[in-house]
Amino acid sequence: MGKVYVFDHPLIQHKLTYIRDIKTGTKEFRELVDEVASLMAFEITRDLPLQEVDVETPVTTAKSKVLAGKKLGIIPILRAGLGMVDGILKLIPAAKVGHIGLYRDPETLQPVEYYAKLPSDVEERDFIVVDPMLATGGSAVEAINSLKKRGAKNIKFMCLIAAPEGVEVVKEAHPDVDIFIAALDEKLNDHGYIVPGLGDAGDRLYGTK
Ligand code: PRP
Ligand code: URA
Repeated sequence: MGKVYVFDHPLIQHKLTYIRDIKTGTKEFRELVDEVASLMAFEITRDLPLQEVDVETPVTTAKSKVLAGKKLGIIPILRAGLGMVDGILKLIPAAKVGHIGLYRDPETLQPVEYYAKLPSDVEERDFIVVDPMLATGGSAVEAINSLKKRGAKNIKFMCLIAAPEGVEVVKEAHPDVDIFIAALDEKLNDHGYIVPGLGDAGDRLYGTK
């Protein structure tokens, strides 16, 4: 079964409070999502393999370490996942970015895929699927299905806020996928929104409401 990690780093928790705040405007919301995505990327890359190299310092030759060159891919679920991409790329600039476009049908809450463009070497990469919200879990499950269908084997899912219901749905559908969360909230409301949550992530990022 996939593991669930809730990041309790004080900086992440502090920034998340302002992300939730209804008084936080679009510009600041975007900046905070970007910053939290960077902090989460820092934690999620803890297990990246290293290799030893020799480096000439001004004093002598030192044995030191660099990343062993594992190929990574970041997959934002459009639209809101886009808000997390730059923050991750600041730390992992060599990662390739694929896009999966999904929207939740407002009546059925079922995800509908409208776009998918992935790096050509899907089978060789480890992927991090990103979306600020994991609510019913439908979008995350569908995005991961889409990636697996195209040959991806090693996938992590990263979000800012998750509902317990959504976490269970992803664990059940994709037991091989570890889930990384900044906050695990109480529940979903009757409209499939996370409580207390942050509202509609796409609208808050892009000012569409
Ligand atoms: C939001 C969010 C997730 C999805 C989560 O996107 O960004 O993708 O809902 O809900 P789920 O877990 O119940 O599937 P939305 O469908 O509103 O699309 P948008 O990002 O284009 O606004
Ligand atoms: N999508 C959002 O943007 N917010 C929620 O609370 C649930 C789904």
